[in-house]
Amino acid sequence: MPSTTIDGTVDRPTSGASAAELAAQLREARARLLAVTEDLSSDQLMGPKLAIVNPVRWELGHVAWFHEYWTLRHSHGQAPLIERGDRLWDSSNVAHDTRWDLELPDRCGTLAYLADVLRRQEDHLARGDAGGDARYFYELSIRHEDMHIEALAYTRQTLGYGRPAAFDRPPPRSAGPLPGDVDVPGGTWRLGVTTDEGFIFDNEKWAHAVEVAPFRIARAPVTNREFAAFVDAGGYRQRKFWSDAGWAWREKTGAERPVYWQPNSGDGWTWRRYDRVEALRPDAPVVFVSWHEAEAWCRWANRRLPSEVEWEVAAVGEARESGMRLSDRKRRWPWGDATPSRNTANLDFAFDAPLDVADCPAGDSAFGCRQMIGNVWEWTASDFAPFPGFAADPYRDYSQPWFGTRKVLRGGCWATSGRIARPAYRNFFTPDRTDVFAGFRTCAV
Ligand SMILES: [Fe+2]
Repeated sequence: MPSTTIDGTVDRPTSGASAAELAAQLREARARLLAVTEDLSSDQLMGPKLAIVNPVRWELGHVAWFHEYWTLRHSHGQAPLIERGDRLWDSSNVAHDTRWDLELPDRCGTLAYLADVLRRQEDHLARGDAGGDARYFYELSIRHEDMHIEALAYTRQTLGYGRPAAFDRPPPRSAGPLPGDVDVPGGTWRLGVTTDEGFIFDNEKWAHAVEVAPFRIARAPVTNREFAAFVDAGGYRQRKFWSDAGWAWREKTGAERPVYWQPNSGDGWTWRRYDRVEALRPDAPVVFVSWHEAEAWCRWANRRLPSEVEWEVAAVGEARESGMRLSDRKRRWPWGDATPSRNTANLDFAFDAPLDVADCPAGDSAFGCRQMIGNVWEWTASDFAPFPGFAADPYRDYSQPWFGTRKVLRGGCWATSGRIARPAYRNFFTPDRTDVFAGFRTCAV
C-alpha cells in the first residue's frame, strides 16, 4: 500500500515491486556498489579533500546508514546498529569538508555494516513485514544507492583512478553522427508526474499544464567533433559567446577546452578517461562540460538549450493526427512501453562509455530524437525550481535545499540506473560542474 493523504489521494506511490523483487534489487545494487569500489587501495578510499567528491569509504558507510535509517529504524522501529552512526553519515548534518576527519570504521568494518543492514532488510522482506509505507522507503533507499553508484563512477574519473576492474563491458560500437533537427508542434503539455508513474521524487509532483510553442530540436546531442569546432575557433577566448556568469567561471578556472581534453600530438584531441589517455570519439556526445560551456557553445553556433518542458515533449510527446498540435498522450519511454535494453538506451553501465550519437536507433522518440534516455545527461536551460504545490517528502533534503541554485538535467547517462533514468526524472547540478556525466542537445533559435 502506498501512502495516502486524508482525502484518499496517493501521495507517495511505489513501483509495485514485490518483497522478493525488492530483495533482488537490493542485492543487485549492492553488487554494483562493490564492483565500482572494491579494487581501490586504502589511500584511494579516502582520496583528496575536494568540494565535488566524498571520501569513498565515507560514501560506502553513508549508503548503509541511509538504508538503515529509512528502512530498519524509520519503518521497522529498530534501534541504531551503530550508536554514533548519525554523527558519521547523516549527510544533512555532517559538513562536507569534515568527512575526511571523522573516526570512520575501516574498510572491513564499513563493508560489515553494509552487509549487516542488507541481511536485516532481507529478513524483513522475507518475513513479509515490509508492507504499507515501508515499501516506499525500501524503494527510496535502493534509488539512493543507485545515485551514489553513479557518483562513485564519476569520482573515479575526477580523481584519475582506473576503470573499475570488475566492469567487463563491450567497447562502444561505431555508429557515426546524426545531424539535423526535427519539428515539434506546440500545445498544452502536462509537465510532471501522475500517480501511475510508480516510484517518484517530490520535485516531480504533480502534473500541471504548461503551454509549449512549436520548436525545432536536434535529433542528437552535440558531438565531440561539433564541440571541437568551437574550441578550435577560439571560442573559450571570446567574451561575446559567454554570459557574465559563464565568463566569470571561465576566468576563474582558466578553462580553454573541456576539462579532460588534451591536445593531440598531430591535430585533434585526446581525453583522459579514468587513468588513461584515449582518442576522443568524434561522433560520441561531448561529456563533462559545464552548463556555462554548453551555453557558450550555443551562442557561438546560434543555437539554444531546450527548456526542461521542451526536452520532455521531444522525448515522450506525440503529435495529433494533423501533426499541427501536441496530443494528450505521454509515452512511458521515448520508444514506447518496453523497459530499456541496450538497443534502446545506454544505461546501467551497458557500455561504460558514451556511444556514438547515431547508436540505439530503436530508442527514437515519436519525433525522431535519439538517445533521450541514457548515454549522457543533458543540460536544459531551466532553473531547478519547485512545481506548483510542491511539498517535501520525508527525505526532506532531497530537493528543497537546492531549488534556485541548480540547472535541470534530463535523461540519464550510461552509469545511471534504469530505475532512476525515467523521462520525468529531474536531475540538478550547479552550472559550474564539469565532473558529472553531462552533455547537451540544442534547439534552433
Ligand atoms: Fe546520499
